[in-house]
Amino acid sequence: MTVHFIGAGPGAADLLTLRGRDLIAASPVCLYAGSLVPEAVLGHCPPGARIVNTAPLSLDEIIAEMAAAHAAGQDVARLHSGDLSVWSAMGEQLRRLRTLGIPYDVTPGVPSFAAGAAALGAELTLPGVVQSVVLTRTSGRATAMPPGETLENFARTGAMLAIHLSVHVLDRVVKELTPHYGGDCPVAIIWRASWPDERIVRATLATLRTAIGEEMERTALIFVGRSIGAEEFGESRLYAGDYDRRYRPVGTHPRFPDPE
Ligand SMILES: C[S@@+](CC[C@H](N)C(=O)[O-])C[C@H]1O[C@@H](n2cnc3c(N)ncnc32)[C@H](O)[C@@H]1O
Repeated sequence: MTVHFIGAGPGAADLLTLRGRDLIAASPVCLYAGSLVPEAVLGHCPPGARIVNTAPLSLDEIIAEMAAAHAAGQDVARLHSGDLSVWSAMGEQLRRLRTLGIPYDVTPGVPSFAAGAAALGAELTLPGVVQSVVLTRTSGRATAMPPGETLENFARTGAMLAIHLSVHVLDRVVKELTPHYGGDCPVAIIWRASWPDERIVRATLATLRTAIGEEMERTALIFVGRSIGAEEFGESRLYAGDYDRRYRPVGTHPRFPDPE
C-alpha cells in the first residue's frame, strides 16, 4: 500500500502527467484538495473508488483517511493542484506518514507559474534581460512570510517575480515594487490559467489598477519583470552558428572533437 501524492496540474484536465493518470486509475481511494482540482481529473478514478474532497477536513482527518486506507491495504491517490513542491501542504502530510510508517511517493505536476507563462506565450528567462524567476507570495492570514523574504528584497535583484496568492493585495504589491522596477515595468496577471474561463491582463505597474477593474477571482498569478513582452533581447549562444559545442563542433580545432 502506498499514498501517491500527485500534482494535478493547473486546471486543464489534460495537463496531468501520464504517470499521475495511471496512479489515479489504479488507486481505490482518491483524496483531492478542493475546487482547484478539476472534475475531469477525478474521472480517472476507478469505478467504485472512495473519492473525498479534503477542503473541509483538518490535517488529522486527512491523515485518518490515509491510515484507514493503509489498514485496508488500499492505495491512495492524493491530489493537489499544480505541482507539489510549492504551497501544497504536502510537507506536513509526509511528516505524519513517516511517523506512522505509511509508505508514500511523489509524482510532480505542471505548476501554475508554467501554465501562466504558457498562456502568455512567454519565455520568462530571456538572455540579457532576466535569468532568474522567483516563485513567491505575500503573507496571508494563515501564513506569515519569513523576515528576509520580502517583495522588496526580491525586487532588488530585478528577477522575474511570479507572485502567487496575492491578487487580493494587488495595490500593496504595486506600491512595494514600483520604486525598484519603475512604473513602466511590464506586468501580466493570469486568472485561472488553462481553465476554460482563463483571463489575462497585460499592463505596466503604473497602469495595472486601471487595466484590471474590480476583478475579484483570487486564483491568479502576478508576473512582474522586464522579460514580459520584451523584443529587445539577445539570442541564446547555444544555437549560434559559430558556437563550438559537443553536439555541433565548429572550426578546425573544435573543443570537443569527438561528438557522441
Ligand atoms: C495554494 S497555491 C497552489 C500552487 C500550486 N501548488 C502550483 O504548483 O502552482 C494556489 C495559488 O497558486 C496560483 N494558481 C494555482 N492555479 C492557478 C491557475 N490555474 N492560474 C493562475 N494561478 C493559479 C494562484 O496564485 C493561487 O492563489
